[in-house]
Amino acid sequence: KQIIAIVPAAGIGSRMGAEIPKQYLMLNEQTILGHTLDCLLSHPKIDKVIVAINPSDDYFADLPQASHPKLQCVSGGKERADSVLAGLNLADEGAWALVHDAARPCLTHQDIDKLIASATVHPQGAILAAPVRDTMKRTNAEGVITTTVCRDQLWHALTPQFFPVKALTHHLTAALAAGALITDEASAMEWAGIMPAVVTGRADNIKVTHPDDLQLASLFLKNSI
Ligand code: CTP
Ligand code: MG
Repeated sequence: KQIIAIVPAAGIGSRMGAEIPKQYLMLNEQTILGHTLDCLLSHPKIDKVIVAINPSDDYFADLPQASHPKLQCVSGGKERADSVLAGLNLADEGAWALVHDAARPCLTHQDIDKLIASATVHPQGAILAAPVRDTMKRTNAEGVITTTVCRDQLWHALTPQFFPVKALTHHLTAALAAGALITDEASAMEWAGIMPAVVTGRADNIKVTHPDDLQLASLFLKNSI
């Protein structure tokens, strides 16, 4: 089956608070988005990479990857899910989509391979996830602990998330129209009653969100392949 990577990269990075959208910040001699694209474009099993960028993006065209033959560009939307849908609309109905945040530059080929391989046992789709390590607490509205949440079977959802294009497009569209809380691809599938699997991924596949994350990502990049 054809595998299309879809990269939502149309956000403005408000929590980063930088002058420019965070995906264009430099990290070890290259932009964050550049690292992300290099990892996906160089993966032998990925046939095409579709990047959703902001309609007012001034930076994408200057990336060294911009003219890569495997790369295609589309205008993103208001929310992350809208950007993902814009990308899905360019993908072949019979293909599988590997949706990966532009802001996760530390992804490795090994984790991509694990996720792709999982499709033979999980034809409904799967996501990379990392087991929760800390003790988890639930509080009341006053910030006082009410319970300790059992950590067993609790995961951090990461990306990539890997689903059949047709099913993902259908359920993402329907879930958005219904006003469901959709923060990743899996949540749209779950909303539709489909139960995606988790594939244990590297905990250092972080989403660069706050300024502190830049140093961590820089360090993790040096250790990844
Ligand atoms: N994204 C997107 N389209 C949007 C919003 C987000 O393509 N309308 C992308 C971002 O570019 C990022 C990924 O989705 O690669 C994950 O989103 P997030 O980390 O929240 O990035 P931002 O929305 O840019 O950051 P913030 O929420 O702090 O503004
Ligand atoms: Mg956001």
